[in-house]
Amino acid sequence: MLVSCEKSSSTPQSQEVSWVSTSVDQLDEKATAQLALALQARNEMESVLKSSLLASIKADGPQGAVGVCSVIAPKIALELNEKHGLTIGRTSFKLRNETNTPPAWMDWIVETKLTDSVYFINTDGTLAATYPINIAPPCMLCHGDENTITADVRSSIAENYPDDQATGFALGDLRGWFWVEVPPQ
Ligand code: HEC
Repeated sequence: MLVSCEKSSSTPQSQEVSWVSTSVDQLDEKATAQLALALQARNEMESVLKSSLLASIKADGPQGAVGVCSVIAPKIALELNEKHGLTIGRTSFKLRNETNTPPAWMDWIVETKLTDSVYFINTDGTLAATYPINIAPPCMLCHGDENTITADVRSSIAENYPDDQATGFALGDLRGWFWVEVPPQ
């Protein structure tokens, strides 16, 4: 307790400037293990999301999957957070769900729509990573051009997300990113 109080009072500005950009070859052994965990969580989130999405499109049609997606995606993220002791999320420069707002350290990545993965180390030893997400064929059902999305899907989106910005994407476009924060292990 004492130690952590001392630490925070003696470095009052460290909170604001604590994330430092890094690269894979600069990481020590510990950070390399954290990065491996970040990638594993990203891969798991992608594959579970994809299979749940396709299953719910098959069962309820894309308009039904809109509602399911809004429940499933945060649930998958929470399960992975607990399983691996980290924080994973998805974000974009065009948000559908505003709870997917990017963490502050991602600001310039979102602004410049960076298509590379980037890594950060925090002064507290937390490692952060981003992984770009591109538009594949099934994504077009709900993120494509307004006039190619079916009326059912459009109204389901409008009902659930009145401030939706996440349409108008083309195949292969950058849609957004997975981001992961892995605390020191
Ligand atoms: C059935 C409709 C549907 C399909 C198909 C779909 N999405 Fe989404 N997408 C949603 C909904 C609803 C949300 C908001 C809820 C959430 O957080 O998942 C969302 C959110 C997102 C987000 C988080 C950022 C934001 O805008 O909130 C990303 C990234 C994303 N989708 C990418 C994709 C990709 C890539 C695909 C194709 C593999 C895809 N989506 C397919 C409906 C869909």
